[in-house]
Amino acid sequence: MKKSTACVHAGNSNHNPAHGLNTPIYTSSAFGYLDTAENIYPRYYNTPNQEVVVQKLCALEQGEAGLLFGSGMAAISTTMLALLQAGDHVILQRDLYGGTHHFVTTELKRVGVDYTLVEETTVDQLEAALQSTTKLVYIETPSNPLLKITDVAAVGSWAQQHRLISVIDNTFASPINQNPIPLGIDVAIHSGTKYLGGHSDLCFGAVITSQSIRDRIYGTAINLGGSVNAATCALIERSLKTLSLRVIQQNKNAQAVAEFLQQHAGVQQVHYPGLANHPGHDIAQRQMQGFGGMLSFEPKVGGGEGAEQFMRQLKIITPAISLGGIESLICAPAKTSHIKLSAEERQQVGVSDELLRISVGIEDTEDLLEDLQQALVMIEEL
Ligand SMILES: Cc1ncc(COP(=O)(O)O)c(C=O)c1O
Repeated sequence: MKKSTACVHAGNSNHNPAHGLNTPIYTSSAFGYLDTAENIYPRYYNTPNQEVVVQKLCALEQGEAGLLFGSGMAAISTTMLALLQAGDHVILQRDLYGGTHHFVTTELKRVGVDYTLVEETTVDQLEAALQSTTKLVYIETPSNPLLKITDVAAVGSWAQQHRLISVIDNTFASPINQNPIPLGIDVAIHSGTKYLGGHSDLCFGAVITSQSIRDRIYGTAINLGGSVNAATCALIERSLKTLSLRVIQQNKNAQAVAEFLQQHAGVQQVHYPGLANHPGHDIAQRQMQGFGGMLSFEPKVGGGEGAEQFMRQLKIITPAISLGGIESLICAPAKTSHIKLSAEERQQVGVSDELLRISVGIEDTEDLLEDLQQALVMIEEL
Protein backbone atom coordinates (compact mmCIF):
# COMPACT_ATOMS: atom_id res chain seq x y z
CA MET A 1 0.00 0.00 0.00
CA LYS A 2 1.13 3.55 -0.69
CA LYS A 3 0.98 6.02 2.20
CA SER A 4 -2.45 7.60 1.74
CA THR A 5 -3.96 4.13 1.35
CA ALA A 6 -2.04 2.83 4.38
CA CYS A 7 -3.37 5.75 6.45
CA VAL A 8 -6.92 4.66 5.67
CA HIS A 9 -6.62 0.87 5.54
CA ALA A 10 -3.47 -0.47 7.25
CA GLY A 11 -3.96 -2.41 10.45
CA ASN A 12 -7.72 -1.97 10.52
CA SER A 13 -9.32 -4.09 13.17
CA ASN A 14 -10.92 -7.46 12.65
CA HIS A 15 -12.03 -7.39 16.31
CA ASN A 16 -15.50 -6.40 15.24
CA PRO A 17 -18.42 -8.80 15.59
CA ALA A 18 -20.92 -6.29 14.12
CA HIS A 19 -18.72 -5.63 11.06
CA GLY A 20 -18.46 -1.90 11.80
CA LEU A 21 -15.64 -0.27 9.86
CA ASN A 22 -14.00 1.28 12.92
CA THR A 23 -12.46 -0.50 15.88
CA PRO A 24 -14.83 -0.67 18.86
CA ILE A 25 -13.46 1.09 21.94
CA TYR A 26 -12.60 -1.61 24.47
CA THR A 27 -13.26 0.16 27.74
CA SER A 28 -11.99 -2.78 29.82
CA SER A 29 -8.91 -2.71 31.99
CA ALA A 30 -9.71 -6.31 32.97
CA PHE A 31 -9.69 -8.98 30.24
CA GLY A 32 -10.47 -12.70 30.70
CA TYR A 33 -7.59 -15.15 31.11
CA LEU A 34 -5.99 -16.33 27.89
CA ASP A 35 -4.04 -19.56 27.55
CA THR A 36 -0.94 -17.65 26.44
CA ALA A 37 2.22 -16.40 28.14
CA GLU A 38 0.78 -12.92 28.48
CA ASN A 39 -2.78 -11.80 29.13
CA ILE A 40 -4.32 -8.62 27.77
CA TYR A 41 -3.93 -5.56 29.97
CA PRO A 42 -3.52 -1.85 29.11
CA ARG A 43 -0.10 -1.60 30.80
CA TYR A 44 1.06 -4.65 28.83
CA TYR A 45 0.63 -2.49 25.72
CA ASN A 46 -1.48 -5.16 24.02
CA THR A 47 -5.15 -4.14 24.05
CA PRO A 48 -6.99 -4.33 20.70
CA ASN A 49 -7.16 -0.52 20.47
CA GLN A 50 -3.42 -0.16 21.10
CA GLU A 51 -2.60 -2.90 18.60
CA VAL A 52 -4.59 -1.40 15.73
CA VAL A 53 -2.75 1.92 16.05
CA VAL A 54 0.64 0.22 16.32
CA GLN A 55 -0.05 -1.75 13.13
CA LYS A 56 -1.03 1.37 11.23
CA LEU A 57 2.11 3.18 12.41
CA CYS A 58 4.32 0.19 11.54
CA ALA A 59 2.89 0.22 8.02
CA LEU A 60 3.53 3.98 7.71
CA GLU A 61 7.07 3.86 9.16
CA GLN A 62 7.97 0.50 7.57
CA GLY A 63 8.88 -0.90 10.99
CA GLU A 64 8.28 -4.41 12.37
CA ALA A 65 6.86 -3.58 15.79
CA GLY A 66 6.03 -0.72 18.11
CA LEU A 67 4.74 0.59 21.42
CA LEU A 68 2.34 3.41 22.20
CA PHE A 69 2.79 5.71 25.18
CA GLY A 70 0.82 8.40 27.01
CA SER A 71 3.09 11.18 25.66
CA GLY A 72 6.06 11.75 23.38
CA MET A 73 8.28 12.23 26.44
CA ALA A 74 7.11 8.86 27.85
CA ALA A 75 8.18 7.26 24.54
CA ILE A 76 11.56 9.04 24.57
CA SER A 77 12.37 8.51 28.25
CA THR A 78 11.25 4.85 28.29
CA THR A 79 13.29 4.09 25.17
CA MET A 80 16.47 5.63 26.56
CA LEU A 81 16.05 4.14 30.03
CA ALA A 82 15.47 0.72 28.46
CA LEU A 83 18.45 0.83 26.12
CA LEU A 84 21.01 2.50 28.43
CA GLN A 85 22.42 1.82 31.87
CA ALA A 86 24.84 3.43 34.36
CA GLY A 87 28.28 3.78 32.81
CA ASP A 88 26.96 4.03 29.23
CA HIS A 89 27.48 7.04 27.01
CA VAL A 90 25.07 8.53 24.47
CA ILE A 91 25.73 10.97 21.61
CA LEU A 92 22.99 13.48 20.80
CA GLN A 93 22.72 16.51 18.59
CA ARG A 94 22.72 19.80 20.46
CA ASP A 95 19.70 21.22 18.60
CA LEU A 96 17.02 19.03 20.18
CA TYR A 97 13.50 19.39 21.53
CA GLY A 98 14.03 21.15 24.89
CA GLY A 99 12.25 18.42 26.89
CA THR A 100 14.54 15.73 25.48
CA HIS A 101 17.57 17.89 26.23
CA HIS A 102 16.30 18.39 29.79
CA PHE A 103 15.63 14.66 30.28
CA VAL A 104 19.13 13.71 29.11
CA THR A 105 20.96 16.37 31.11
CA THR A 106 19.03 15.72 34.35
CA GLU A 107 17.40 12.26 34.61
CA LEU A 108 19.78 10.24 32.45
CA LYS A 109 22.75 11.94 34.07
CA ARG A 110 21.28 11.19 37.53
CA VAL A 111 21.19 7.46 36.76
CA GLY A 112 24.81 7.54 35.60
CA VAL A 113 24.48 7.81 31.81
CA ASP A 114 27.01 10.20 30.33
CA TYR A 115 26.32 12.19 27.17
CA THR A 116 27.98 14.33 24.51
CA LEU A 117 26.05 16.95 22.53
CA VAL A 118 27.43 17.51 19.02
CA GLU A 119 26.91 20.74 17.08
CA GLU A 120 26.41 19.00 13.75
CA THR A 121 25.57 15.32 13.33
CA THR A 122 28.20 14.79 10.65
CA VAL A 123 30.17 11.55 10.68
CA ASP A 124 33.33 13.53 11.61
CA GLN A 125 31.71 15.06 14.68
CA LEU A 126 30.08 11.77 15.69
CA GLU A 127 33.43 10.03 15.34
CA ALA A 128 35.09 12.66 17.54
CA ALA A 129 32.43 12.16 20.23
CA LEU A 130 32.65 8.34 20.20
CA GLN A 131 33.82 6.66 23.42
CA SER A 132 34.38 3.02 24.32
CA THR A 133 31.17 3.20 26.41
CA THR A 134 28.99 4.79 23.69
CA LYS A 135 25.83 2.72 23.16
CA LEU A 136 23.37 4.97 21.40
CA VAL A 137 23.19 7.89 18.97
CA TYR A 138 20.11 10.12 19.00
CA ILE A 139 19.09 12.56 16.28
CA GLU A 140 16.14 14.81 15.49
CA THR A 141 15.68 15.95 11.89
CA PRO A 142 14.29 18.41 10.97
CA SER A 143 15.22 19.71 14.40
CA ASN A 144 13.19 21.81 16.80
CA PRO A 145 13.19 24.82 16.38
CA LEU A 146 15.91 25.60 13.80
CA LEU A 147 14.94 22.93 11.25
CA LYS A 148 18.51 21.67 10.96
CA ILE A 149 18.84 18.65 8.72
CA THR A 150 20.88 15.55 9.54
CA ASP A 151 21.84 13.00 6.89
CA VAL A 152 19.78 10.10 8.25
CA ALA A 153 21.34 7.35 6.12
CA ALA A 154 24.87 8.50 7.02
CA VAL A 155 24.10 8.38 10.76
CA GLY A 156 22.36 5.00 10.38
CA SER A 157 25.31 3.37 8.62
CA TRP A 158 27.85 4.99 10.98
CA ALA A 159 25.90 3.61 13.97
CA GLN A 160 25.72 0.13 12.40
CA GLN A 161 29.47 0.20 11.77
CA HIS A 162 30.09 0.93 15.48
CA ARG A 163 27.32 -1.41 16.71
CA LEU A 164 25.39 1.45 18.30
CA ILE A 165 21.62 1.74 18.44
CA SER A 166 20.43 4.72 16.38
CA VAL A 167 17.30 6.60 17.46
CA ILE A 168 15.49 9.42 15.68
CA ASP A 169 12.77 11.78 16.83
CA ASN A 170 10.73 11.83 13.60
CA THR A 171 8.00 14.09 15.00
CA PHE A 172 8.63 17.15 12.81
CA ALA A 173 8.67 15.20 9.55
CA SER A 174 5.86 12.72 10.30
CA PRO A 175 5.95 9.33 8.56
CA ILE A 176 4.42 10.93 5.48
CA ASN A 177 7.51 13.07 4.82
CA GLN A 178 10.29 10.84 6.13
CA ASN A 179 10.84 7.14 6.88
CA PRO A 180 14.11 6.70 8.82
CA ILE A 181 13.92 2.91 9.30
CA PRO A 182 14.46 2.01 5.62
CA LEU A 183 17.32 4.56 5.71
CA GLY A 184 19.09 2.45 8.35
CA ILE A 185 17.90 3.93 11.67
CA ASP A 186 16.89 1.43 14.37
CA VAL A 187 14.20 3.32 16.30
CA ALA A 188 11.76 6.01 15.11
CA ILE A 189 10.02 7.96 17.87
CA HIS A 190 7.07 10.33 17.56
CA SER A 191 5.40 12.79 19.80
CA GLY A 192 2.02 11.70 18.43
CA THR A 193 0.54 14.73 20.18
CA LYS A 194 1.67 16.62 17.06
CA TYR A 195 1.08 15.47 13.45
CA LEU A 196 -0.16 11.95 14.16
CA GLY A 197 -2.98 13.24 16.39
CA GLY A 198 -3.15 16.36 14.25
CA HIS A 199 -6.07 18.16 15.93
CA SER A 200 -4.42 19.53 19.10
CA ASP A 201 -6.76 17.45 21.25
CA LEU A 202 -4.76 14.46 22.49
CA CYS A 203 -1.39 13.48 23.90
CA PHE A 204 0.55 10.32 23.05
CA GLY A 205 3.89 8.98 21.90
CA ALA A 206 4.97 6.14 19.65
CA VAL A 207 8.08 4.02 19.18
CA ILE A 208 8.45 2.04 15.93
CA THR A 209 11.37 -0.34 15.54
CA SER A 210 12.41 -3.98 14.99
CA GLN A 211 10.76 -6.77 16.97
CA SER A 212 13.94 -7.41 18.98
CA ILE A 213 14.46 -3.77 20.04
CA ARG A 214 10.75 -3.41 20.75
CA ASP A 215 11.01 -6.39 23.11
CA ARG A 216 13.95 -4.77 24.95
CA ILE A 217 12.05 -1.50 25.36
CA TYR A 218 8.92 -3.39 26.40
CA GLY A 219 10.69 -4.91 29.43
CA THR A 220 11.18 -1.40 30.84
CA ALA A 221 7.90 -0.01 29.49
CA ILE A 222 5.77 -2.36 31.61
CA ASN A 223 7.68 -1.24 34.71
CA LEU A 224 7.40 2.48 33.94
CA GLY A 225 3.75 2.08 32.95
CA GLY A 226 3.36 4.95 30.49
CA SER A 227 0.74 3.26 28.28
CA VAL A 228 -2.13 5.03 26.52
CA ASN A 229 -5.86 4.45 27.06
CA ALA A 230 -8.41 2.97 24.64
CA ALA A 231 -10.41 6.18 24.04
CA THR A 232 -7.25 8.03 23.01
CA CYS A 233 -6.28 5.10 20.76
CA ALA A 234 -9.63 5.37 18.98
CA LEU A 235 -9.05 9.09 18.38
CA ILE A 236 -5.55 8.36 17.09
CA GLU A 237 -6.88 5.67 14.75
CA ARG A 238 -9.36 8.16 13.31
CA SER A 239 -6.73 10.91 13.03
CA LEU A 240 -4.25 8.68 11.20
CA LYS A 241 -6.78 8.12 8.40
CA THR A 242 -6.35 11.77 7.33
CA LEU A 243 -2.64 12.12 8.18
CA SER A 244 -1.46 12.08 4.58
CA LEU A 245 -4.06 14.65 3.42
CA ARG A 246 -3.24 17.00 6.28
CA VAL A 247 0.52 16.76 5.87
CA ILE A 248 0.39 17.34 2.09
CA GLN A 249 -1.54 20.61 2.67
CA GLN A 250 0.77 21.61 5.54
CA ASN A 251 3.83 21.04 3.30
CA LYS A 252 2.31 23.24 0.59
CA ASN A 253 1.35 26.03 3.00
CA ALA A 254 4.71 25.99 4.80
CA GLN A 255 6.62 26.31 1.52
CA ALA A 256 4.48 29.34 0.57
CA VAL A 257 4.87 30.94 4.02
CA ALA A 258 8.65 30.39 4.01
CA GLU A 259 9.02 31.92 0.54
CA PHE A 260 6.83 34.88 1.52
CA LEU A 261 8.80 35.57 4.72
CA GLN A 262 12.14 35.15 2.97
CA GLN A 263 11.47 37.96 0.49
CA HIS A 264 9.97 40.30 3.14
CA ALA A 265 12.05 43.31 4.21
CA GLY A 266 10.77 42.95 7.80
CA VAL A 267 12.35 39.51 8.23
CA GLN A 268 16.02 38.75 8.98
CA GLN A 269 16.24 35.00 8.39
CA VAL A 270 13.95 32.06 7.63
CA HIS A 271 14.74 28.47 8.58
CA TYR A 272 12.89 26.01 6.31
CA PRO A 273 14.46 23.00 4.55
CA GLY A 274 12.31 23.60 1.47
CA LEU A 275 14.18 26.84 0.72
CA ALA A 276 17.04 26.39 -1.75
CA ASN A 277 19.40 28.44 0.45
CA HIS A 278 18.78 26.30 3.57
CA PRO A 279 22.07 24.53 4.43
CA GLY A 280 20.32 21.14 4.62
CA HIS A 281 18.17 21.58 1.49
CA ASP A 282 19.97 19.01 -0.70
CA ILE A 283 20.01 16.33 2.00
CA ALA A 284 16.36 17.05 2.83
CA GLN A 285 15.46 16.71 -0.83
CA ARG A 286 17.15 13.31 -0.91
CA GLN A 287 15.68 11.85 2.27
CA MET A 288 12.28 13.55 2.64
CA GLN A 289 9.18 13.18 0.52
CA GLY A 290 7.99 16.65 1.62
CA PHE A 291 9.72 19.42 3.59
CA GLY A 292 7.14 19.53 6.38
CA GLY A 293 4.88 22.07 8.01
CA MET A 294 7.37 23.57 10.50
CA LEU A 295 9.49 26.66 10.01
CA SER A 296 11.10 29.34 12.12
CA PHE A 297 12.23 32.87 11.44
CA GLU A 298 13.61 36.02 13.04
CA PRO A 299 11.55 39.13 12.29
CA LYS A 300 13.37 42.48 12.48
CA VAL A 301 11.54 43.49 15.62
CA GLY A 302 14.17 44.08 18.27
CA GLY A 303 14.33 41.24 20.76
CA GLY A 304 11.80 39.13 22.61
CA GLU A 305 9.44 42.01 23.36
CA GLY A 306 9.18 42.93 19.65
CA ALA A 307 8.53 39.29 18.74
CA GLU A 308 5.81 39.17 21.40
CA GLN A 309 4.15 42.27 19.91
CA PHE A 310 4.34 40.77 16.42
CA MET A 311 2.54 37.62 17.61
CA ARG A 312 -0.18 39.77 19.19
CA GLN A 313 -0.96 41.38 15.79
CA LEU A 314 -1.77 38.04 14.13
CA LYS A 315 -5.45 37.27 13.56
CA ILE A 316 -5.46 33.69 12.22
CA ILE A 317 -2.10 32.25 13.24
CA THR A 318 -2.58 31.61 16.94
CA PRO A 319 0.11 32.05 19.61
CA ALA A 320 0.15 28.68 21.38
CA ILE A 321 2.56 25.95 22.38
CA SER A 322 2.57 22.57 20.61
CA LEU A 323 2.50 21.95 16.86
CA GLY A 324 1.36 19.66 14.08
CA GLY A 325 -2.35 20.44 14.29
CA ILE A 326 -4.72 21.56 11.55
CA GLU A 327 -4.55 25.17 12.80
CA SER A 328 -1.48 27.38 12.29
CA LEU A 329 0.27 28.11 15.58
CA ILE A 330 3.14 30.41 16.46
CA CYS A 331 5.43 30.48 19.48
CA ALA A 332 8.70 31.92 20.73
CA PRO A 333 10.86 28.84 21.51
CA ALA A 334 12.94 30.83 24.04
CA LYS A 335 9.77 31.15 26.14
CA THR A 336 8.17 27.77 25.39
CA SER A 337 9.89 24.60 24.13
CA HIS A 338 13.36 25.81 25.21
CA ILE A 339 12.46 27.61 28.43
CA LYS A 340 14.19 24.96 30.56
CA LEU A 341 17.55 25.74 28.91
CA SER A 342 19.70 28.46 30.47
CA ALA A 343 20.20 31.67 28.43
CA GLU A 344 23.73 30.47 27.68
CA GLU A 345 22.51 27.05 26.48
CA ARG A 346 19.90 28.75 24.28
CA GLN A 347 22.59 30.91 22.76
CA GLN A 348 24.73 27.81 22.07
CA VAL A 349 21.79 26.15 20.34
CA GLY A 350 21.04 29.32 18.33
CA VAL A 351 17.63 30.06 19.88
CA SER A 352 17.49 33.86 20.04
CA ASP A 353 14.80 35.76 21.97
CA GLU A 354 13.18 36.96 18.73
CA LEU A 355 13.15 33.55 17.03
CA LEU A 356 9.55 32.59 16.19
CA ARG A 357 8.42 29.12 15.19
CA ILE A 358 5.33 28.52 13.08
CA SER A 359 3.51 25.22 12.83
CA VAL A 360 1.68 25.77 9.56
CA GLY A 361 -1.84 24.37 9.44
CA ILE A 362 -4.25 23.39 6.67
CA GLU A 363 -5.92 26.79 6.17
CA ASP A 364 -6.07 28.53 2.76
CA THR A 365 -2.57 29.68 1.85
CA GLU A 366 -3.66 33.24 0.92
CA ASP A 367 -5.23 33.81 4.34
CA LEU A 368 -2.00 32.84 6.10
CA LEU A 369 0.12 35.11 3.89
CA GLU A 370 -2.28 38.04 4.40
CA ASP A 371 -2.22 37.51 8.15
CA LEU A 372 1.59 37.62 8.25
CA GLN A 373 1.69 40.64 5.91
CA GLN A 374 -0.73 42.70 8.03
CA ALA A 375 1.16 41.81 11.25
CA LEU A 376 4.51 42.79 9.70
CA VAL A 377 3.00 46.12 8.58
CA MET A 378 1.45 46.76 12.01
CA ILE A 379 4.71 46.08 13.79
CA GLU A 380 6.58 48.53 11.56
CA GLU A 381 4.07 51.20 12.50
CA LEU A 382 4.31 50.62 16.27
C1 LIG B 1 10.16 17.20 18.48
C2 LIG B 1 9.44 16.84 19.75
N1 LIG B 1 9.69 15.66 20.33
C3 LIG B 1 9.08 15.30 21.47
C4 LIG B 1 8.18 16.13 22.11
C5 LIG B 1 7.53 15.68 23.40
O1 LIG B 1 6.23 15.25 23.15
P1 LIG B 1 5.03 15.28 24.23
O2 LIG B 1 4.75 16.70 24.54
O3 LIG B 1 3.92 14.55 23.52
O4 LIG B 1 5.52 14.55 25.43
C6 LIG B 1 7.88 17.36 21.54
C7 LIG B 1 6.92 18.27 22.20
O5 LIG B 1 6.77 19.41 21.84
C8 LIG B 1 8.53 17.74 20.33
O6 LIG B 1 8.30 18.92 19.74
